[in-house]
Amino acid sequence: MNLNRKFPFTRLRRTRSKAGLRSLVAETSLTVDDLIQPIFIKENLSGEEEIESMPEIKRYGLDLLNKEIEEIVSLGIKAVAVFPVVDEQKKDPAGLEAINEDNFLSKAIRQIKESFPELIIIVDVALDPYTTHGHDGVLDDKGDVDNDASLLTLKEQALVLAKAGADVIAPSDMMDGRIRVIREALEENNFKNTVILSYAAKYSSKFYGPFKEAVESAKFFGNKTKDTYQMAIGNINEALHEVSMDIEEGADIVMVKPGMPYLDVVRVVKEEFKIPTFVYQVSGEYSMLKAAIARGWLSQEVIKESLVSFKRAGADCILTYSAKEVAREL
Ligand code: PBG
Repeated sequence: MNLNRKFPFTRLRRTRSKAGLRSLVAETSLTVDDLIQPIFIKENLSGEEEIESMPEIKRYGLDLLNKEIEEIVSLGIKAVAVFPVVDEQKKDPAGLEAINEDNFLSKAIRQIKESFPELIIIVDVALDPYTTHGHDGVLDDKGDVDNDASLLTLKEQALVLAKAGADVIAPSDMMDGRIRVIREALEENNFKNTVILSYAAKYSSKFYGPFKEAVESAKFFGNKTKDTYQMAIGNINEALHEVSMDIEEGADIVMVKPGMPYLDVVRVVKEEFKIPTFVYQVSGEYSMLKAAIARGWLSQEVIKESLVSFKRAGADCILTYSAKEVAREL
């Protein structure tokens, strides 16, 4: 390749001069197949509720859930990630409601599958919706999250979700060894095609702030941190270590989270492992863009631009609260 040819033989503006040419030389594309819509559902709610810190995103009761899914499906989106807001009465320090086969999320999965058997349902494995302290696992006597004790419940939670019909189990708890324990349990219980999407490089990020309001866990969690299990924001070699462990333990797909502040991580993970790599444009990223758009400081197009940046960095697929609105534009 000779990059030394000089002007006017080389005019990079030639291929920019017409829309048709620009699309012929486009290196990155964004289609509806790249998008996953996260949705919030709330136990005992009928109808829907606004989420103040996430403009246009709502919590749905089971009575309105299928209508919302219908719209998502009609836009061509192939997968949803479902996050439950669990009845406060059902929370306890051990997060035991997570392993109740008839819990709210299991009911929701069965309800969705009945009407939309082709839609891919992704669900988190983590105890934070179910614990009174809001951590993703159970605590030891010093108040830290107990890795190996948490694995016992997380494994059962994964089985409950697989049994309910979830296609993709997404451990977001960041305990060591969870992928292996969950994979073994799925194999032993004849869920050999249940996909594990590991939140492998999940950072201890303040960009999750609005999510905590969305799932109403803020008041349980207070201003604690998840620093003893989620990754330190400055580490990238450790992300490769995490990802390699999770692949070895049986993950089918890995994820980087948050998205835009961690594009370098997406890039190295994809280059190093060449396995399906997803990225999560998290609540804080969404709300930040929406807030600026609402004030007229940025135009609507920045959302698509942010999603293209994920694809350019190497992501195969994007979890984004903007999936629906972008699918409508595409
Ligand atoms: C729970 C979980 C979180 C998110 C997804 N799953 C929050 C956290 O770990 O504190 C964040 C998603 C978002 O901010 O959009 N383990």
